[in-house]
Amino acid sequence: MFDLSMIKAVYERFPGRVAAARKAVGRPLTLTEKILYAHLTQGDATAAFARGKDYVDFAPDRVAMQDATAQMALLQFMQAGRAKVAVPSTVHCDHLIVAKDNSKVDLERAVNESKEVYDFLASVSNKYGIGFWKPGAGIIHQVVLENYAFPGGMMIGTDSHTVNAGGLGMIAIGVGGADACDVMAGLPWELKMPKLIGVKLTGKLNGWTAPKDVILKVAGILTVKGGTGAVVEYFGEGAVAMSCTGKGTICNMGAEIGATTSTFGYDESMSRYLKATGREAVAELADGIAEHLTADPEVYANPEQYFDQVIEINLSELEPHLNGPFTPDLATPISKMKEVAAANNWPTKVEVGLIGSCTNSSYEDISRAVSLAKQVAEKGLKTKAEFTITPGSEQVRYTIERDGFLDTFAQIGATVFANACGPCIGMWERMGAEKQERNTIVHSFNRNFAKRADGNPNTMAFVASPELVTALAIAGDLTFNPITDTLTNEKGEQVKLDPPSGYELPVRGFAVEDAGYQAPAEDGSGVNVIVEPTSKRLQLLDPFPAWEGTDLKGLKLLIKAKGKCTTDHISMAGPWLKFRGHLDNISNNMLIGAVNFFNEKTDNIKNQLTGEYGPVPATQRAYKAAGIGSIVVGDENYGEGSSREHAAMEPRHLGVRAVLVKSFARIHETNLKKQGMLALTFADKADYEKIQEDDSIDIVGLTEFAPGKPLTLVLNHADGSKDEISVNHTYNEQQIEWFKAGAALNIIRKQFGA
Ligand code: F3S
Repeated sequence: MFDLSMIKAVYERFPGRVAAARKAVGRPLTLTEKILYAHLTQGDATAAFARGKDYVDFAPDRVAMQDATAQMALLQFMQAGRAKVAVPSTVHCDHLIVAKDNSKVDLERAVNESKEVYDFLASVSNKYGIGFWKPGAGIIHQVVLENYAFPGGMMIGTDSHTVNAGGLGMIAIGVGGADACDVMAGLPWELKMPKLIGVKLTGKLNGWTAPKDVILKVAGILTVKGGTGAVVEYFGEGAVAMSCTGKGTICNMGAEIGATTSTFGYDESMSRYLKATGREAVAELADGIAEHLTADPEVYANPEQYFDQVIEINLSELEPHLNGPFTPDLATPISKMKEVAAANNWPTKVEVGLIGSCTNSSYEDISRAVSLAKQVAEKGLKTKAEFTITPGSEQVRYTIERDGFLDTFAQIGATVFANACGPCIGMWERMGAEKQERNTIVHSFNRNFAKRADGNPNTMAFVASPELVTALAIAGDLTFNPITDTLTNEKGEQVKLDPPSGYELPVRGFAVEDAGYQAPAEDGSGVNVIVEPTSKRLQLLDPFPAWEGTDLKGLKLLIKAKGKCTTDHISMAGPWLKFRGHLDNISNNMLIGAVNFFNEKTDNIKNQLTGEYGPVPATQRAYKAAGIGSIVVGDENYGEGSSREHAAMEPRHLGVRAVLVKSFARIHETNLKKQGMLALTFADKADYEKIQEDDSIDIVGLTEFAPGKPLTLVLNHADGSKDEISVNHTYNEQQIEWFKAGAALNIIRKQFGA
C-alpha cells in the first residue's frame, strides 16, 4: 500500500538538501527546518527563508482527503486533465457515518444514504490512481498513521487534523480542497515559512498521566491561538520515552492551538511502530538517515537560540487534565476539578464517556482503558455513565476484538460505534439531545465546541485521556480523582481503581481480515465516473470562462458587506455540508451570512433590476440570467476562517466578477485568484464609504493588468454622478495568467492537453 520507492527517493535527496539548507541558513537546523528545506520545489536551498514572512513553494510527498472535503477537491482535479495524480493520494470515507445504534447498523445505513457520494469517490479514485478506503475502514488520520506516514515526509490533507501524522515524524498540514487539487496535479504548494515553537519534555509519564495530558497542558499554556503560524517541535527524554501513537495524539491536538503542525524527531518508538504495522523496510531506510530525521544536536542543547518560543514540561510532575467545556484550552488538573466545577456550576454527573476518534484510538489507548473496565467486575463496581467506543481503524478494531477487549467493554455496557468520526463531528444521534438539557459528557476527542458532539448547545463536553474518560464514566462523576478518591462498590465497600496499564503494541501483532482498502486500477483510462445529472449532492464542474479581454463595465454592486465576513458568512456549513459536491446547490448559501451595509440585515439586498429586496443568491442569479456581472464589497480581513474553496467558487459560479475589500485573509485571497476572480483592495480604505447601494461599477486597466500596478474603478452612482477610485492587487505574473485563463485549473488543463 505504502509507496516505498517514493520514500526511498525522498531519503536519497535528504542528506544533500539538509547540507545545502544548513549552509544557506548558516547555523544548525531544527527537525522542522530539515523537513521543510528538503521539500523545496526549487531543489537545494540557496538562501534562508524568513520565518513568519516569506512565502515558500513546497513539493509535498502525499495527499490525503476525507470524504466531505474530497468531493470538491476531486471534482476540481477531474478538470485538470491529468490521467493520474502526480503524488500518492488517498480518500477516506469517515465523516458521513451517523453514530446511533451500533457499528453494523450505523454503517449499513450510511452506505445506503450516501451511496451516491461513496460510488463517486470510489470511481474517481479508481480512475486517477488514488487509494480508496471504504466506509468502515477507519478514520483518515489513524489510517494514514498506520499505513502511509513516514519520518521526514511532508504531506497535506483536506482536514485540519492531518497534523496527526507528526507522531511519525512528518510535517503534515491541513489544507482546503483546491490546494489538494493543485498538489495532485503536480503544482507547487505555497506556505508562509512557519515560526518554530520548541516543547521540551523532561521526566517520564507515569500512573494516570497519558500523552493526551501533555497536549491538554500545552493547550492551557498556549491557548487556542498560541500556535498560529508556527510548527511545534517536541523533543527531550520524555518525548523519546513515549509511544509513537502517543506522539500522534499530541500532534493531532496541535490543531486545537492553531499550530500549522507539530512533529517529533525519529526514534525507537517510531521504528517499533513502523515494524508493527508491516513497514520494516521503511524503518530500515529511516535508520539509514536517522541523523537527518531529528534536529542537529546543538539545537536541543540550546533550544532558546533556535526556536521562537520554548516551553518545558516535566512529565514526572504532570497531572491528568480535563479541558473544557466549550473550548479545548480551558485546562483543569483533575485535582482541582472539584472546586472549579463548583465555582462554575458545571453539572458534575457524567452522562456519557466516549473514547476513540482519530485522536485517541490506538491499541495502547484502548488497552489502557480496558485495564480500568476490567476492574469494574473485579472490584464489584457498576459503571454509572453510558460508555461508547469509536475505533480509529478496522485494524485496531479487529485486533482489540481478537484480544478480548471488546468483550470486556461489553461487560460494562459499552456501545461500539463504526470506525468513523461519528460523535466527534456531530454525527451522533444521541437520544434526548433535542431536549437541550444541561448535561456533562467526557470524551477523548479533540474538539469540544458547543453543539459539536450531539447538537445540544447545553451539553458540556470535557476532553481527557481515554484512561481518565473511562474512570470518570465508571464513577459517573466529573470531580472523581482516581489518584486519591475511592468508589463505593455493590457491597458498600470503599475501593480504589488501580492506575491504568496496557501495551504500546499488540503482543500478538496487529491483525485484520479486511482493512477496507481498494487499490486503484493500474490503467484507469477506461473507468467511467458516474454522476447523475439529476443528482442533488454531486455535480460535475464546467470550466469557468476565460476573461473576455476587455475592461469590465456596468458591474452591479451585489452587496456591500459590513464588519466581519468569514468563510462561514460567505459559505455556511451545518446543513449545507451535504451539498459540498454540488456547486450549484451549495451556491444557494452564497453570502447569506454577510451583513448588508445599507440595511444591516443578512441575506437581504437590493436587486438593482427590480428595485426589490431579496436574498443574496437569488439576486445574483437574476443578474446572471440577465448577463450582468457584479461586484462584492467587503470590510477588513474578508474571508477569514477556513480554507474552504466553496467561498471563492460560489461567487465565481454565479457570475460575480470581483471582490473589493479593505483587506483579505490570505488563503481566501489566493482561493479567489485561483478561481479566476479579481481580488482587489481599496488603495484608500476611506473609499469604502463612496460605494452606494445603486452603483454600477467599471473596472478599468485590465488590458494592462500587471504586477504592482493599481487598477481604477469608476463608481457610476444612480444620480448620474461618478467617483473614480484606485484599487490595489497582489497578483504576480502567474496569477494574472490564472485570471486571464478564467481559473488556475484552466492553465493546468492546457498543460495536459484537456
Ligand atoms: Fe474525524 Fe473528529 Fe478526527 S471529525 S477526523 S475523528 S477530529
